[in-house]
Amino acid sequence: PKLGEMLNLYDFEAVASQILSAETWAYYSSGADDEITLRENHSAFQRIWLRPRVMRDVTHVDTRTKLLGYDSSFPLYITATALGKLGHPEGEVVLTRAAHTQNIIQMIPTLASCSLNEMTTARQEGQIQFFQLYVNKNRNITQKVIQTAEQKGCKALFITVDAPQLGRREKDMRVKFVHAPPHIQDEKDIRRDQGVARAISSFIDSGLSWKDLEWFRSITKMPIILKGIQTPEDAVLAAKYGCEGIVLSNHGGRQLDFARSGIEILPEVVEVLKKEGLYDKMEIYVDGGIRRGTDIFKAIALGAKAVGIGRPLLYAMASYGQAGVERALQLLKDELELAMRLAGANTLADIRPEMVDIKNLTDH
Ligand code: FNR
Repeated sequence: PKLGEMLNLYDFEAVASQILSAETWAYYSSGADDEITLRENHSAFQRIWLRPRVMRDVTHVDTRTKLLGYDSSFPLYITATALGKLGHPEGEVVLTRAAHTQNIIQMIPTLASCSLNEMTTARQEGQIQFFQLYVNKNRNITQKVIQTAEQKGCKALFITVDAPQLGRREKDMRVKFVHAPPHIQDEKDIRRDQGVARAISSFIDSGLSWKDLEWFRSITKMPIILKGIQTPEDAVLAAKYGCEGIVLSNHGGRQLDFARSGIEILPEVVEVLKKEGLYDKMEIYVDGGIRRGTDIFKAIALGAKAVGIGRPLLYAMASYGQAGVERALQLLKDELELAMRLAGANTLADIRPEMVDIKNLTDH
Protein backbone atom coordinates (compact mmCIF):
# COMPACT_ATOMS: atom_id res chain seq x y z
CA PRO A 1 0.00 0.00 0.00
CA LYS A 2 0.95 3.63 -0.52
CA LEU A 3 2.16 5.65 2.44
CA GLY A 4 -0.91 7.90 2.19
CA GLU A 5 -3.09 4.87 2.89
CA MET A 6 -1.58 4.50 6.36
CA LEU A 7 -4.28 5.94 8.60
CA ASN A 8 -3.04 4.88 12.00
CA LEU A 9 -0.08 3.19 13.66
CA TYR A 10 -1.55 -0.30 13.42
CA ASP A 11 -1.48 0.02 9.62
CA PHE A 12 2.31 0.30 9.73
CA GLU A 13 2.51 -2.78 11.93
CA ALA A 14 0.46 -4.76 9.40
CA VAL A 15 2.77 -3.76 6.55
CA ALA A 16 5.92 -4.46 8.59
CA SER A 17 4.70 -7.92 9.51
CA GLN A 18 4.52 -8.69 5.78
CA ILE A 19 7.84 -7.24 4.63
CA LEU A 20 10.26 -7.89 7.50
CA SER A 21 12.31 -11.08 7.65
CA ALA A 22 11.05 -13.67 10.11
CA GLU A 23 14.08 -12.99 12.26
CA THR A 24 13.56 -9.23 12.46
CA TRP A 25 9.80 -9.50 12.97
CA ALA A 26 10.42 -11.91 15.85
CA TYR A 27 12.98 -9.62 17.46
CA TYR A 28 10.92 -6.43 17.12
CA SER A 29 7.48 -7.75 17.96
CA SER A 30 8.13 -10.27 20.69
CA GLY A 31 7.45 -10.01 24.40
CA ALA A 32 8.57 -12.18 27.29
CA ASP A 33 7.13 -15.61 28.10
CA ASP A 34 3.38 -15.72 27.45
CA GLU A 35 3.30 -12.04 26.44
CA ILE A 36 0.67 -11.22 29.05
CA THR A 37 2.39 -7.94 29.90
CA LEU A 38 2.84 -7.13 26.21
CA ARG A 39 -0.94 -7.42 25.76
CA GLU A 40 -1.63 -5.60 29.02
CA ASN A 41 0.31 -2.59 27.69
CA HIS A 42 -2.56 -2.23 25.22
CA SER A 43 -5.53 -3.47 27.19
CA ALA A 44 -4.82 -1.16 30.15
CA PHE A 45 -5.51 1.83 27.91
CA GLN A 46 -8.84 0.28 26.97
CA ARG A 47 -9.93 0.42 30.61
CA ILE A 48 -9.52 4.18 30.80
CA TRP A 49 -12.48 6.23 29.62
CA LEU A 50 -12.61 9.90 28.79
CA ARG A 51 -14.79 12.62 30.30
CA PRO A 52 -14.89 15.28 27.59
CA ARG A 53 -15.84 18.87 28.39
CA VAL A 54 -17.67 20.94 25.77
CA MET A 55 -18.11 24.56 24.67
CA ARG A 56 -14.62 25.66 25.57
CA ASP A 57 -13.52 27.43 22.37
CA VAL A 58 -11.04 24.90 21.08
CA THR A 59 -10.17 26.82 17.91
CA HIS A 60 -6.51 26.95 18.85
CA VAL A 61 -5.06 23.78 20.33
CA ASP A 62 -1.42 23.79 21.37
CA THR A 63 0.41 20.48 21.96
CA ARG A 64 3.87 21.91 22.59
CA THR A 65 5.80 21.07 25.73
CA LYS A 66 9.28 20.80 27.23
CA LEU A 67 11.00 17.58 28.28
CA LEU A 68 13.72 18.18 30.86
CA GLY A 69 13.66 21.76 29.65
CA TYR A 70 13.94 20.98 25.92
CA ASP A 71 11.27 21.88 23.38
CA SER A 72 9.10 19.21 21.83
CA SER A 73 6.23 19.73 19.38
CA PHE A 74 4.06 17.30 21.35
CA PRO A 75 4.53 15.20 24.50
CA LEU A 76 6.19 12.19 22.88
CA TYR A 77 9.77 11.07 22.32
CA ILE A 78 11.34 8.25 20.33
CA THR A 79 12.49 5.70 22.89
CA ALA A 80 15.58 3.52 22.60
CA THR A 81 15.17 0.38 20.54
CA ALA A 82 18.21 -1.70 19.65
CA LEU A 83 19.34 -2.83 16.20
CA GLY A 84 17.64 -0.37 13.84
CA LYS A 85 19.50 -1.77 10.83
CA LEU A 86 17.55 -5.00 11.04
CA GLY A 87 14.58 -2.92 9.87
CA HIS A 88 16.22 -0.38 7.57
CA PRO A 89 19.66 -0.38 5.90
CA GLU A 90 20.50 3.07 7.29
CA GLY A 91 19.28 2.28 10.80
CA GLU A 92 18.74 4.80 13.60
CA VAL A 93 19.88 7.87 11.66
CA VAL A 94 16.56 7.61 9.81
CA LEU A 95 14.82 8.18 13.15
CA THR A 96 17.20 11.08 13.87
CA ARG A 97 16.19 12.79 10.63
CA ALA A 98 12.48 12.25 11.19
CA ALA A 99 12.75 13.48 14.79
CA HIS A 100 14.25 16.68 13.45
CA THR A 101 11.54 17.45 10.92
CA GLN A 102 8.83 16.68 13.51
CA ASN A 103 10.56 18.59 16.33
CA ILE A 104 10.67 15.79 18.81
CA ILE A 105 13.46 14.25 20.88
CA GLN A 106 15.22 10.97 20.05
CA MET A 107 16.69 8.68 22.69
CA ILE A 108 19.81 7.01 21.36
CA PRO A 109 20.20 3.33 22.35
CA THR A 110 23.45 1.83 23.67
CA LEU A 111 22.80 -1.07 21.31
CA ALA A 112 22.06 0.95 18.18
CA SER A 113 23.23 -0.45 14.86
CA CYS A 114 24.65 2.96 13.92
CA SER A 115 27.61 4.26 15.88
CA LEU A 116 27.06 6.98 18.45
CA ASN A 117 29.09 9.26 16.22
CA GLU A 118 26.87 8.60 13.21
CA MET A 119 23.74 9.37 15.20
CA THR A 120 25.03 12.53 16.84
CA THR A 121 26.48 13.74 13.54
CA ALA A 122 23.12 13.21 11.86
CA ARG A 123 21.66 15.70 14.33
CA GLN A 124 20.68 19.11 12.96
CA GLU A 125 21.29 22.51 14.55
CA GLY A 126 19.22 22.85 17.71
CA GLN A 127 18.03 19.24 17.66
CA ILE A 128 18.04 17.38 21.00
CA GLN A 129 19.05 13.77 21.69
CA PHE A 130 19.02 11.82 24.95
CA PHE A 131 21.13 8.73 25.61
CA GLN A 132 19.93 5.32 26.86
CA LEU A 133 22.50 3.37 28.86
CA TYR A 134 22.91 -0.32 29.42
CA VAL A 135 25.45 -0.52 32.22
CA ASN A 136 28.46 -2.60 31.23
CA LYS A 137 29.99 -4.89 33.87
CA ASN A 138 33.27 -3.23 33.02
CA ARG A 139 32.74 0.17 34.61
CA ASN A 140 35.64 1.70 32.68
CA ILE A 141 33.70 0.99 29.52
CA THR A 142 30.50 2.33 31.11
CA GLN A 143 32.27 5.54 32.08
CA LYS A 144 33.71 5.97 28.61
CA VAL A 145 30.33 5.39 26.97
CA ILE A 146 28.62 7.96 29.21
CA GLN A 147 31.31 10.56 28.79
CA THR A 148 31.45 10.10 25.03
CA ALA A 149 27.67 10.52 24.82
CA GLU A 150 27.92 13.72 26.86
CA GLN A 151 30.81 15.08 24.75
CA LYS A 152 28.85 14.36 21.62
CA GLY A 153 26.03 16.52 22.88
CA CYS A 154 23.48 14.12 24.38
CA LYS A 155 21.44 16.04 26.94
CA ALA A 156 20.18 13.38 29.35
CA LEU A 157 21.15 9.94 30.58
CA PHE A 158 18.38 7.34 30.70
CA ILE A 159 19.71 4.35 32.63
CA THR A 160 17.77 1.17 31.87
CA VAL A 161 17.08 -0.51 35.20
CA ASP A 162 14.61 -3.24 34.24
CA ALA A 163 17.08 -5.49 32.47
CA PRO A 164 19.74 -7.00 34.78
CA GLN A 165 19.23 -10.02 32.56
CA LEU A 166 17.27 -10.05 29.33
CA GLY A 167 13.81 -11.61 29.45
CA ARG A 168 12.98 -14.77 27.53
CA ARG A 169 11.37 -13.77 24.28
CA GLU A 170 10.61 -17.15 22.94
CA LYS A 171 9.55 -16.08 19.45
CA ASP A 172 12.92 -14.44 19.11
CA MET A 173 14.73 -17.45 20.56
CA ARG A 174 13.14 -19.80 18.06
CA VAL A 175 14.58 -17.88 15.14
CA LYS A 176 18.30 -18.41 14.92
CA PHE A 177 20.27 -15.21 15.09
CA VAL A 178 22.81 -14.78 12.32
CA HIS A 179 23.49 -11.08 11.86
CA ALA A 180 25.25 -9.48 14.82
CA PRO A 181 26.11 -5.79 14.44
CA PRO A 182 29.85 -5.26 13.85
CA HIS A 183 30.71 -3.84 17.27
CA ILE A 184 29.10 -6.80 18.96
CA GLN A 185 30.60 -9.51 16.80
CA ASP A 186 33.85 -9.75 18.77
CA GLU A 187 32.09 -10.51 22.03
CA LYS A 188 33.35 -13.95 22.87
CA ASP A 189 30.32 -15.17 24.74
CA ILE A 190 27.70 -14.55 22.09
CA ARG A 191 25.33 -17.47 21.97
CA ARG A 192 23.85 -17.49 18.51
CA ASP A 193 21.17 -19.96 19.45
CA GLN A 194 19.73 -17.66 22.12
CA GLY A 195 17.84 -15.23 19.92
CA VAL A 196 18.89 -11.75 18.96
CA ALA A 197 18.24 -10.17 22.33
CA ARG A 198 20.26 -12.52 24.43
CA ALA A 199 23.07 -12.67 21.92
CA ILE A 200 23.77 -8.96 22.23
CA SER A 201 23.19 -8.40 25.92
CA SER A 202 25.72 -10.54 27.75
CA PHE A 203 27.74 -7.48 28.82
CA ILE A 204 24.95 -6.01 30.99
CA ASP A 205 25.79 -5.65 34.69
CA SER A 206 23.30 -7.47 36.89
CA GLY A 207 25.09 -5.97 39.90
CA LEU A 208 23.63 -2.51 39.30
CA SER A 209 22.21 -1.05 42.51
CA TRP A 210 20.95 2.21 44.05
CA LYS A 211 24.30 3.07 45.54
CA ASP A 212 25.79 3.28 42.04
CA LEU A 213 23.79 6.45 41.40
CA GLU A 214 26.36 8.49 43.29
CA TRP A 215 29.06 7.22 40.94
CA PHE A 216 27.01 8.06 37.82
CA ARG A 217 26.47 11.53 39.25
CA SER A 218 30.22 11.94 39.79
CA ILE A 219 31.12 11.20 36.18
CA THR A 220 28.46 13.17 34.27
CA LYS A 221 26.59 16.43 34.37
CA MET A 222 23.70 15.04 32.34
CA PRO A 223 20.40 14.71 34.23
CA ILE A 224 19.79 11.09 35.26
CA ILE A 225 16.50 9.35 34.51
CA LEU A 226 15.75 5.74 35.48
CA LYS A 227 14.02 3.82 32.71
CA GLY A 228 11.98 0.84 33.85
CA ILE A 229 10.52 1.91 37.22
CA GLN A 230 7.48 -0.29 38.01
CA THR A 231 6.33 0.52 41.54
CA PRO A 232 5.67 3.63 43.66
CA GLU A 233 8.28 2.35 46.12
CA ASP A 234 11.02 2.60 43.51
CA ALA A 235 9.67 5.92 42.24
CA VAL A 236 10.10 7.31 45.75
CA LEU A 237 13.63 5.91 45.94
CA ALA A 238 14.50 7.48 42.58
CA ALA A 239 13.32 10.86 43.87
CA LYS A 240 15.21 10.46 47.13
CA TYR A 241 18.37 9.59 45.23
CA GLY A 242 17.96 12.83 43.33
CA CYS A 243 17.07 11.51 39.87
CA GLU A 244 15.65 14.11 37.51
CA GLY A 245 13.10 11.70 36.14
CA ILE A 246 11.71 8.19 35.80
CA VAL A 247 10.19 6.21 32.97
CA LEU A 248 7.34 3.95 34.06
CA SER A 249 8.00 1.08 31.70
CA ASN A 250 8.15 -2.69 31.47
CA HIS A 251 10.43 -2.57 28.43
CA GLY A 252 7.60 -3.11 26.00
CA GLY A 253 6.58 -6.34 27.74
CA ARG A 254 9.96 -7.88 26.96
CA GLN A 255 11.29 -8.39 30.49
CA LEU A 256 9.23 -9.67 33.43
CA ASP A 257 5.96 -11.14 32.25
CA PHE A 258 3.07 -10.18 34.56
CA ALA A 259 4.65 -6.83 35.34
CA ARG A 260 1.87 -4.24 35.17
CA SER A 261 1.81 -1.64 32.43
CA GLY A 262 3.29 1.82 32.90
CA ILE A 263 -0.06 3.56 32.37
CA GLU A 264 -1.65 1.32 34.99
CA ILE A 265 0.83 2.22 37.73
CA LEU A 266 0.97 5.93 36.83
CA PRO A 267 -1.97 7.00 39.08
CA GLU A 268 -0.56 5.31 42.17
CA VAL A 269 2.96 6.57 41.49
CA VAL A 270 1.66 10.13 41.19
CA GLU A 271 -0.44 9.75 44.34
CA VAL A 272 2.44 8.43 46.45
CA LEU A 273 4.94 10.98 45.14
CA LYS A 274 2.48 13.78 45.90
CA LYS A 275 1.88 12.45 49.38
CA GLU A 276 5.63 12.40 50.03
CA GLY A 277 6.07 15.88 48.57
CA LEU A 278 8.26 14.48 45.79
CA TYR A 279 6.04 14.92 42.73
CA ASP A 280 7.63 18.22 41.72
CA LYS A 281 11.15 16.83 42.03
CA MET A 282 11.07 14.60 38.95
CA GLU A 283 9.51 14.34 35.53
CA ILE A 284 7.49 11.19 34.97
CA TYR A 285 7.47 9.48 31.60
CA VAL A 286 5.53 6.44 30.49
CA ASP A 287 6.11 4.00 27.67
CA GLY A 288 4.51 0.78 26.43
CA GLY A 289 1.55 0.41 24.10
CA ILE A 290 1.20 4.03 23.01
CA ARG A 291 -0.56 3.79 19.64
CA ARG A 292 -3.22 6.54 19.63
CA GLY A 293 -3.53 10.22 20.41
CA THR A 294 -6.01 9.30 23.13
CA ASP A 295 -3.31 7.12 24.75
CA ILE A 296 -1.09 10.19 25.02
CA PHE A 297 -4.04 12.23 26.31
CA LYS A 298 -4.67 9.66 29.05
CA ALA A 299 -1.03 9.60 30.17
CA ILE A 300 -0.92 13.41 30.37
CA ALA A 301 -4.22 13.53 32.27
CA LEU A 302 -2.85 11.09 34.83
CA GLY A 303 0.28 13.16 35.46
CA ALA A 304 2.94 12.11 32.95
CA LYS A 305 5.15 14.73 31.34
CA ALA A 306 5.35 12.78 28.08
CA VAL A 307 5.30 9.29 26.62
CA GLY A 308 7.86 7.19 24.78
CA ILE A 309 7.14 5.14 21.68
CA GLY A 310 9.10 2.16 20.36
CA ARG A 311 7.83 -0.49 17.97
CA PRO A 312 5.49 1.58 15.77
CA LEU A 313 8.36 3.75 14.58
CA LEU A 314 10.52 0.73 13.82
CA TYR A 315 7.63 -0.60 11.74
CA ALA A 316 7.12 2.73 9.99
CA MET A 317 10.85 3.02 9.31
CA ALA A 318 11.08 -0.51 7.95
CA SER A 319 8.05 -0.01 5.70
CA TYR A 320 8.51 3.52 4.34
CA GLY A 321 11.81 4.91 5.66
CA GLN A 322 12.03 8.49 6.93
CA ALA A 323 8.74 9.52 5.30
CA GLY A 324 7.01 6.65 7.08
CA VAL A 325 8.33 7.67 10.49
CA GLU A 326 7.30 11.26 9.79
CA ARG A 327 3.80 10.21 8.81
CA ALA A 328 3.43 8.00 11.88
CA LEU A 329 4.45 10.92 14.09
CA GLN A 330 2.10 13.31 12.27
CA LEU A 331 -0.80 10.90 12.63
CA LEU A 332 -0.19 10.66 16.37
CA LYS A 333 0.11 14.41 16.77
CA ASP A 334 -3.07 14.97 14.74
CA GLU A 335 -4.89 12.37 16.83
CA LEU A 336 -3.76 14.08 20.03
CA GLU A 337 -4.94 17.46 18.72
CA LEU A 338 -8.30 15.99 17.81
CA ALA A 339 -8.64 14.31 21.22
CA MET A 340 -7.79 17.60 22.95
CA ARG A 341 -10.35 19.50 20.88
CA LEU A 342 -13.08 16.94 21.48
CA ALA A 343 -12.30 16.80 25.21
CA GLY A 344 -12.13 20.56 25.67
CA ALA A 345 -8.41 21.05 26.31
CA ASN A 346 -6.51 23.83 24.55
CA THR A 347 -3.15 23.13 26.10
CA LEU A 348 -1.53 20.18 27.84
CA ALA A 349 -2.11 21.96 31.14
CA ASP A 350 -5.84 21.85 30.39
CA ILE A 351 -5.74 18.05 30.28
CA ARG A 352 -6.90 17.40 33.83
CA PRO A 353 -7.17 14.19 35.90
CA GLU A 354 -10.97 14.75 35.96
CA MET A 355 -11.01 14.18 32.20
CA VAL A 356 -10.28 10.48 32.60
CA ASP A 357 -12.33 7.83 34.32
CA ILE A 358 -10.04 5.18 35.82
CA LYS A 359 -12.66 3.28 37.82
CA ASN A 360 -12.04 0.18 35.73
CA LEU A 361 -8.30 0.58 35.40
CA THR A 362 -7.14 -1.36 38.42
CA ASP A 363 -10.47 -2.87 39.38
CA HIS A 364 -11.24 -5.48 36.77
C1 FNR B 1 13.28 -2.17 23.08
N1 FNR B 1 13.43 -1.51 24.30
C2 FNR B 1 14.70 -1.16 24.72
N2 FNR B 1 14.87 -0.47 25.88
C3 FNR B 1 16.10 -0.11 26.30
O1 FNR B 1 16.22 0.55 27.33
N3 FNR B 1 17.20 -0.44 25.56
C4 FNR B 1 17.12 -1.14 24.41
O2 FNR B 1 18.12 -1.43 23.77
C5 FNR B 1 15.82 -1.53 23.96
N4 FNR B 1 15.68 -2.24 22.81
C6 FNR B 1 14.42 -2.54 22.34
C7 FNR B 1 14.29 -3.19 21.12
C8 FNR B 1 13.03 -3.46 20.62
C9 FNR B 1 12.92 -4.12 19.29
C10 FNR B 1 11.87 -3.09 21.35
C11 FNR B 1 10.50 -3.35 20.81
C12 FNR B 1 12.00 -2.46 22.56
C13 FNR B 1 12.25 -1.08 25.09
C14 FNR B 1 11.76 0.28 24.60
O3 FNR B 1 12.64 1.31 24.94
C15 FNR B 1 10.39 0.65 25.19
O4 FNR B 1 10.40 0.48 26.59
C16 FNR B 1 9.23 -0.15 24.58
O5 FNR B 1 9.51 -0.48 23.25
C17 FNR B 1 7.96 0.66 24.63
O6 FNR B 1 6.89 -0.09 24.19
P1 FNR B 1 6.26 0.01 22.69
O7 FNR B 1 6.14 1.48 22.33
O8 FNR B 1 7.18 -0.73 21.80
O9 FNR B 1 4.94 -0.63 22.89
